[in-house]
Amino acid sequence: MAKPKRSVATFDVAPSIEHSARVTIEASRSVPRGAGALGIPVAPDGAVPLELGLARTTLVASGFDGKIGQTLVLPRADGPTVVAVGIGNPAELEASGLRDAAAAFARAAGKHAHLATTLADVTSVKPGMAGQAVVEGVLLARYRYDVLKQVASGTALTQLTLVAAAKRLEGVSQGAQRGRILAAVGQLARDLANAPPAHLTAAKMGEVASALAADRGLSIEVFDAEALAKLGCGGLLGVNAGSVEPPRMIKLTYRPAGVRGKPARAARQLAMVGKGIMYDSGGINLKPRDGMHALMKMDMSGAAAVLAAMSALAALDCKTTVTGYLMCTDNMPSGSAMKMGDVLTLRGGKTVEINNTDAEGRLVLADALALAAEERPDAIVNIGTLTGACLSALGDQIAGVFGNHQGFIDQVSAAGRSTDEPVWQLPLERRYRKQLESNVADMRNMGGDFAGAITAALFLAEFVGDVPWAHLDICGPMKVDADESWRSRGATGFGARLLLEVALHFTPPAG
Ligand code: BES
Ligand code: MN
Ligand code: ZN
Repeated sequence: MAKPKRSVATFDVAPSIEHSARVTIEASRSVPRGAGALGIPVAPDGAVPLELGLARTTLVASGFDGKIGQTLVLPRADGPTVVAVGIGNPAELEASGLRDAAAAFARAAGKHAHLATTLADVTSVKPGMAGQAVVEGVLLARYRYDVLKQVASGTALTQLTLVAAAKRLEGVSQGAQRGRILAAVGQLARDLANAPPAHLTAAKMGEVASALAADRGLSIEVFDAEALAKLGCGGLLGVNAGSVEPPRMIKLTYRPAGVRGKPARAARQLAMVGKGIMYDSGGINLKPRDGMHALMKMDMSGAAAVLAAMSALAALDCKTTVTGYLMCTDNMPSGSAMKMGDVLTLRGGKTVEINNTDAEGRLVLADALALAAEERPDAIVNIGTLTGACLSALGDQIAGVFGNHQGFIDQVSAAGRSTDEPVWQLPLERRYRKQLESNVADMRNMGGDFAGAITAALFLAEFVGDVPWAHLDICGPMKVDADESWRSRGATGFGARLLLEVALHFTPPAG
């Protein structure tokens, strides 16, 4: 029989890299002539900014009361359209509120290509943070996955001017440059997760990562099936067994400027592991609902987050050595697919009985966690769309975090607060460990009917030894159905900016 043909469609990384590079971002003391819309922050009470030319009673009568996320568009006969942008109580305003306000402005002014705003001049947020948050909010809100459309779905942003007082200008400008980098990280993760599964296969992911690594000062090794077999990565190979697309493990390394050329251990070291299931059909335990299938091109959101985060480490001068593992394959049913009752031998020798082929994420992650732990990094963080149970527990806004070291879990949670990608800790409850016992192998890959997010975490915990470790289950917040603040419909890129933040602020957790 002829070998089934592999897909020929491709994923082009260029648009992802261009999104924010196409936008001119500047800080200025005045509103430039060409601006199409001007966003003015307005609080719920106090004086109304003069630029609006309206009294508070008129604003209120129009239904605008200054809450974060509210906007009122005021067209002008000449000059830019003025947009009143609610910022809530200025005394309580933080970077995340400012990011939301900036996103609301960008959407309200969606028909305009050149935006100007004084949002970064709000004195309750420091200039650097303000510049960063406003740029992130605007660029991420205006994100569209348009690479496959003949006609773009909205007006592309070409210019963003942050108008600020002289004494804040330098800080706002520096923050804006950071914001551009962080927005690009989010956009790249979204592009990867939104890409159709036949366009972005595991092999293609290897090519995309190689191109990016060359451009961003990362070293890279791409492992094919043969190399994976030599390493004993039975988890990734087992999940791949049913697919005509070959698997890839992609290992990226970033070394801070001072330690390049020296052994990796010369700096503190962090490892990141991402679940890269390019399409999760469930395998022989085929997913029963079409709706589920339609989402499963995004089952590589964890790997996308790791790749995107690592793409910016050099630009932001990260002081920690970071290694990243992207575990990439489809999970498909076929004559060669792994079956229930099969036993896989994972990296490090543990045997696993398959009692559900749809619990595949933990199998591919386990190989990489074992490999990462062998290098004795100061900590390991993994990320993936692991369980519907986590979505049921925390909903679609919040990721679950588990771990074996509270100090490191706290670092991950703090990073999520700063990027406004909220995570909530769930217990790594050892009492449920017996659900993973198997009659024929060291363990099995799925627990019982309940606490599915916890049993998945307990499975992963087996592979990290005593290395401080945190596990992010991002099944819930991986996508949004409708535009919402800076999250544009489709893949959210959740976790990419968070992981970058973890790396930038990383301190080896004590004891
Ligand atoms: N990729 C899925 C989880 C998922 C579900 C992600 C919905 C995004 C949206 C994962 O591989 C999976 O199938 N998990 C199973 C685990 C079960 C078989 C133990 C689940 O959650 O049902
Ligand atoms: Mn699955
Ligand atoms: Zn999956």
